[in-house]
This record gives sequence, C-alpha cells and structure tokens, in this order.
Amino acid sequence: MDLMDKIVSLCKRRGFIFQSSEIYGGLSNTWDYGPFGVELKNNIKRAWWKANVYQRSDILGMDAAILMHPKVWEASGHTANFFDLKSDCKSCKKRFKTEDLKGKTKCPECGGELTEGRPFNLMFKTHQGPIEDDANIIYMRPETAQGMFVNFLNILDSRHPKLPFGLAQIGKSFRNEITPGNFTFRTREFEQMEIEYFVRPEEADKKLEEWIEYRFNWYLELGIKKEGLRKRPHGKEELAHYARACTDIEYSFPFGWSELEGIANRTDFDLRQHSKVSGKDLVYFDEVKKERLTPYIIEPSGGIDRSVLAFLVDAYSEEKVKDETRLVLKLHRDLAPVKVAVLPLLKNRQEIVDMARALTQDLKKSFITVYDDTAAIGKLYRRQDEVGTLYCVTVDVQSLEDKQVTVRDRDTMKQDRIAIEKLKEYVSDKLNK
Ligand code: GAP
Repeated sequence: MDLMDKIVSLCKRRGFIFQSSEIYGGLSNTWDYGPFGVELKNNIKRAWWKANVYQRSDILGMDAAILMHPKVWEASGHTANFFDLKSDCKSCKKRFKTEDLKGKTKCPECGGELTEGRPFNLMFKTHQGPIEDDANIIYMRPETAQGMFVNFLNILDSRHPKLPFGLAQIGKSFRNEITPGNFTFRTREFEQMEIEYFVRPEEADKKLEEWIEYRFNWYLELGIKKEGLRKRPHGKEELAHYARACTDIEYSFPFGWSELEGIANRTDFDLRQHSKVSGKDLVYFDEVKKERLTPYIIEPSGGIDRSVLAFLVDAYSEEKVKDETRLVLKLHRDLAPVKVAVLPLLKNRQEIVDMARALTQDLKKSFITVYDDTAAIGKLYRRQDEVGTLYCVTVDVQSLEDKQVTVRDRDTMKQDRIAIEKLKEYVSDKLNK
C-alpha cells in the first residue's frame, strides 16, 4: 500500500475523514471530517488565528458572508477571468483540464477525438430568492479575500488602523474544479485561511518577503519537517490576473510537491477595482503625510484542508517495536486531537472503572480527554497512537491503594508513575513546554 492509501485508510478507520454521502455511493471528491478530523482541523485554525491575529498587533479578524453582491465578482475580475480551459472527449464524454493534456489531441482514456479547449468559469452559480432568472444570479465565493476588500472602509471607520495593517479570515470557498482529486487536496468545497495585509506601495516588496518567511516558519514551528517544505516563486505566466508576484509554499505530498499556500502581491488592483465599480472611494488617509493613497495588498492565502492533509502525511510514522510495527501519528502537541486518554487496566473491576471515569471527567475540564475500556491494553495503546494522543493514563489495581496512575508518553513510550492529584500539573507542564 502506498503512503497516500495508508493515510486515506487511517482517516476512515479512526474517524478523521469520511467520503461524503457514503451510504448513497458517495459524492465524488467531497469529504466529511469525523470526530478526530474536526479536532485536528479546529486546532490548525486555532494555531493560525493565534499566530496571525492574537499574537500580532497589526491584524484584525473578520468573518464575512459567503454570498456577496454579484458586482463584487465583476469588479474583482472573477466573472471575466476566473476560468480554466476544458476539453471534452467526443467519444467517451470525459472532461479534462486542457493544460493537463499537454498538447495531446486524443483522449487519454479512450483515444477519442478531443474538443478544442473551451473556457469554463470555476465559480458556482445559483439564484438568490424564489425566482430563477438572470437578475437573481448569485455566486458562492471562490475566495474569502473579497469579503475583506469590500469591508475596507468599514474597518477604517470602526477601528482606525494605521498602515501597515491586515485583516484575517477563515472560511469556506467553492470552485467548480474540472479535475478535483488527490483525496482532500483539490476539492470543490474547501476552507481557506487568508490575510489581506495593506501596505504603502513602496513597502510592498519588503513586506512580501517578510510574509513569505513568517508563513513558512509557521508550518515548521508546528512540526512539518524542513525537508518536506519549500518555497517556489511563480513565473510571470502563472500569476493570477490580480497578482504582480507570488511565492507558493509547497509540501512534498506522496503525489509530488504541491501548493499549500500562496503569498501574493495583489498591488492596489482590488481596492481600485472596487472603487471604480462601487463608486465608493476605497482609499486610506495618511494623517502624518497628509496624503490619500490606495494601499497595496500582500496576501498570504492557505488552504485548511491541504494543511490537514500535509500535517497528517508528515506525522504518519511506522516504527518497529519488538518485532511489531507501531503506527503512530506524531502530530505537534498543539494539533493532536486528543491530549489524554484514560484507560482502565481491568475493565471488570468496578472500582478501577469508577476511578478511571471520575479521572476522565476531571481531566476533561482542562484538556481534550477520552476514556476507552473496549479492548485489552495493547490494543487501546495502538488505537491512541494511531490518532496521535499525547498521553495515555492507565488506572490499575495499585492505583486504588496508592492513588497514582501510569502516564505513557506517545513519542518516547516512557512511562511515569504520577500521583493523581499532581496529574493535571504534570500534563499542563508538558503541553506548555
Ligand atoms: N485569494 C487568493 C487565492 O484564493 P489560490 O492560490 O487560488 O489563491 C489559495 O488559493 C489556497 O487555497 C491554495 O494555496 C490552497 O491551499 C487552497 N485551495 C485553492 N483551491 C483549492 C481547492 N480546489 N481545494 C482545496 N484547497 C484549495
């Protein structure tokens, strides 16, 4: 089994990620996050918000609606420019992204004749309200960014930030991708974490470089191995219609180096376009220089689903322990879905079970904690290793007398005997190290 198959299988087996609508045969390339998946995803979002909003004084958070005025997409250029070329096979009717065909004129599946590349807009279109006519067309946003641009004046008027400053937002985006695939890597519904950082135009190049470093280091600090991460500047021909420069942070996925996040210099394109189309002046007044200016925008834009996948791939490890293979997810402590698992050594001794359950309830007040007594201890450890649980606490016969428990560390498998009254402090110290 290759690594990608192992990850997909682990995700299903342990409740990280399931195929959407599986009981109906599944909706292709659409995925649901299960109990551990949602925790991992939330932990990634929390870590991103902490590093980009709470720990900085120049960024404010936002949460704009998914549905926006259709003029937004006209101004942003998405109605006119946000398309891929598609080619259809005249025989088997399969559809391809023209650029993936690399000049081939015959269908790679059946050898049939292919149509010329035809533009296909990637925005999902629907109707607002009960009448399905062209006057009511509305789009599902293909990026969260525009929600921040159109609120530029609201932010200036309500919070009075000084340049340089940024807005940060996490939310769903939708693209009618022609060729989704590679598990959660390219899907039609996905989540983005985006920052729009407003700067004086002359500072844009310097700020772009700073953001590339800052964002690159964020992945490293959360445990991604250095050799699995790289920066790739875009060539002129691959820049989006709004960008003057862009560098991708790429991860070495099992299917090859692929984009995790793009950091772009969007210039003043968006603010000028929205000023033009809305008739509102989206400018900043520099009180010191007594100058009105349209800031440039540096945009670090990452995908949460891709981050989840990269963190899973990177953490996946198989170790030989006494002739057995131990599968363990070595997720960073801030990302691990479960911090503590409480496991009674004998589930048929009621006092042990009661003690373990009471301990679980108490630990839950401080850490994400689970209780499991549905198998023998070896199997219970294996389950917890596979979801990356940091500490396994076993309650045994001796615990009834000495009020101590055994704590096993996920990575070292070292065991410590700890007094129950000191357990929270012990775990806290480890988590905050
Ligand atoms: N606002 C800029 C923007 O949206 P992008 O490079 O098109 O730029 C940013 O997207 C990030 O969003 C990507 O780096 C990727 O992580 C994520 N992303 C884009 N399309 C995606 C898709 N179809 N499925 C999953 N993630 C996607």
